[in-house]
Amino acid sequence: MDLKERLKKIELEAARALTDITDLEQLEALRVEFLGKKGRITEVLRQMGKLSAEERPQIGQAANFLKERLHNIIENKKTEIEQEVRVRKMEEERIDVTLPGNKPRLGHRHPLTRISDQVKELFIGLGFTIAEGPEIENEYNNFEALNVPEHHPARDLQDTFYLDYNYLLRSQTSTVQIRTMAQKKPPIRIIAPGRVYRSDELDASHTPMFHQVEGLVIDRGISFSDLKGTIELVVRAIYGQERLFRFRPSYFPFTEPSAEVDISCIVCAGKGCRLCSESGWLEILGAGMVHPNVLEMAGIDFKQYSGFAFGMGLDRIAMLKYGINDIRLLFENDQRFLRQF
Ligand code: PHE
Repeated sequence: MDLKERLKKIELEAARALTDITDLEQLEALRVEFLGKKGRITEVLRQMGKLSAEERPQIGQAANFLKERLHNIIENKKTEIEQEVRVRKMEEERIDVTLPGNKPRLGHRHPLTRISDQVKELFIGLGFTIAEGPEIENEYNNFEALNVPEHHPARDLQDTFYLDYNYLLRSQTSTVQIRTMAQKKPPIRIIAPGRVYRSDELDASHTPMFHQVEGLVIDRGISFSDLKGTIELVVRAIYGQERLFRFRPSYFPFTEPSAEVDISCIVCAGKGCRLCSESGWLEILGAGMVHPNVLEMAGIDFKQYSGFAFGMGLDRIAMLKYGINDIRLLFENDQRFLRQF
């Protein structure tokens, strides 16, 4: 077969092979077969040495012409296949914008976090700053400096977790009063939210760990009416304008006079029910004027300065606000419960 015929044959075969091709890989294989360095056209060109001087340019031209044509055809086919691939891909990835959306579920803030944030915001608005202290405390800050000397019966008022003879898990955030007074001179206006620990039996209203918010204000001329006004604001902000509240005389070693604050029962509004033990009232916090002994131990001149302090149970406040009847719900992380807030 002379080279001219071989070129014809190559052309025909290439044309036939091209019609079967559907993807880019096959097309590339075909290109290599016909146009590659060791391809069939090159093979023809290599044999031109055998040709006569007149034949050589003719065949050379024909071979180059075929090469160019094939090259163009393959390029066109390539564009065509690429276009097809793109269309297919778009078809596959098409999004039906009319389908209902998959909304990601929003998280919820824990009821205690909500109450805590609300209380913090309220006090920050009143010019207070937030103070902190450690949960592992020494007994000086937890008792001694709060006017509860060793062997004082008041140490038994709260069942404390001792770590050793000196260290304990703080049983009240009042420790932060002491820490603050050790660091700052009056005027002092702080609240201190945090965890406290008492070795209580677990039941619907007791957990060995719970939360308090301590408050401490010390300045010249602070009186019981300042305490009353502050507490009134808190009660109104958390429980609403209509809620009744009262101060009831009480005893804390570190305040004198001391009081407990009750709000009218959130279930019966004062008529008497099981929640309020038929009294119509619910206790929400302890408070009082800072005892002169406490000021003196903290190095504050009680002839110039006076102050008030309060401590409220956040868990209890959250329970009363949201109508939660078992404190354990706050710590079990049951999603069905938490999702309601
Ligand atoms: N620390 C007291 C308690 O835990 C509450 C309290 C704080 C009372 C500050 C008076 C003043 O019961």
